[in-house]
Amino acid sequence: MPASRAAHYLLGLASRSHIYSARLPALLPCRTAPTARRFLQTQATPPTRVPEFAFAFDIDGVLVRSSDALPRAHKSLSYLQSERIPFIFLTNGGGKHEQERVDDLSKKLDIPIDTSMFVQSHTPFADMGEYKNKTVMVVGGDEDRCRVVAEKYGFKTVVTPGDILVAYPEVWPFSQQLLPYYSSFTRPLPAPINPISPSTSLKIDAIFVYNDPRDWGLDTQIIKDVLLSHNGILGTLSRKNGDATLPNKGYQQDGQPPLYFSNPDLLWAAKYHLPRLGQGGFREALEGVWSALTGGEKNGVTLQKIVMGKPHKLTYEFAEKRLIAHRGQLLKQFDGKLGHLKRVYMVGDNPESDILGGNSYESPHGTDWVSVLVQTGVYVEGTTPAHAPRQIVGDVYDAVSWAVAQERWKA
Ligand code: G3P
Ligand code: MG
Repeated sequence: MPASRAAHYLLGLASRSHIYSARLPALLPCRTAPTARRFLQTQATPPTRVPEFAFAFDIDGVLVRSSDALPRAHKSLSYLQSERIPFIFLTNGGGKHEQERVDDLSKKLDIPIDTSMFVQSHTPFADMGEYKNKTVMVVGGDEDRCRVVAEKYGFKTVVTPGDILVAYPEVWPFSQQLLPYYSSFTRPLPAPINPISPSTSLKIDAIFVYNDPRDWGLDTQIIKDVLLSHNGILGTLSRKNGDATLPNKGYQQDGQPPLYFSNPDLLWAAKYHLPRLGQGGFREALEGVWSALTGGEKNGVTLQKIVMGKPHKLTYEFAEKRLIAHRGQLLKQFDGKLGHLKRVYMVGDNPESDILGGNSYESPHGTDWVSVLVQTGVYVEGTTPAHAPRQIVGDVYDAVSWAVAQERWKA
């Protein structure tokens, strides 16, 4: 991100006035049903017409700021539920299983939510069957919560950098003071690190960064060790590293595992009044170390990786499938007459992820994704967003108001 744009973040956070604020039609109170799905399918009065539009809501900076719900989030979403207008949550956040996050969010926003309407940064990892019987490394998140998520997704052998540190403290000299912390949740390794006998030594088949890393030093060291290894075998060093006759100067050309990042966000809106570094910040730091080690781009070497999450196409494709399925479920009484989903209002606070993603996504269903930028998160009022949204509004309530007015939807 060019320095100038980052500078904008740091300026003028104070002034927030609503650009768009129409009054929404009178809202029906939202009762919390025993199960979200049953509420979503039965409670509200049966709809008389089909909404040809839907919403995809970002979470951080739109509905919540860390643990606090934003003022008009409940009102906006319960209105949509009372009108049976479909919506999903599409977040670059993560770190807990979808069910746990849905339960948390449902409590915070006091509305019934179902996992069928929830997509977080690492949700698409659940579909990666090719690694479920292999040994994967999971990085990021609190303690080993992301390992637990990966296991719930069906990954059989999951290793974390913390497991390696506890088994071989010398692997990273600068987290020794954290050993008691790591020992409280790490597990023995499925195999030793034994470069003398590579065939029995711990081999990593894929690296998944699930959530914002907490220990950038350790995680950078371990990821770098795996990427410079032979065949992903820890404790080894590939002879191909630096071989100018090979692509990428021989780096990552020796059976090293693929490296997946679930979230590209450099900055995100947390509780603090200024945006905080996110998983993208860790990736940039790692790329800096990789460049220093390999000579970097000026030496024709890049860090080969797969970055997912908004604004990337794969995540929007995944989310659109979830939204279409959820809409079909929610409006199943219109089966056969449901018709095409014409527009999705992508409501977000981050121009680099939410707006760029909404603007650049070309739906295979011809659905128009309309990007709406709010001022309750990363984006600062009065600055020029890096990617122009279809509409800038004050907050999520204004976003919903503006969209239903566009749709001439009268309660
Ligand atoms: O770590 C979460 C952050 O990067 C942004 O989350 O909900 O704004 O996409 P969200
Ligand atoms: Mg956000």
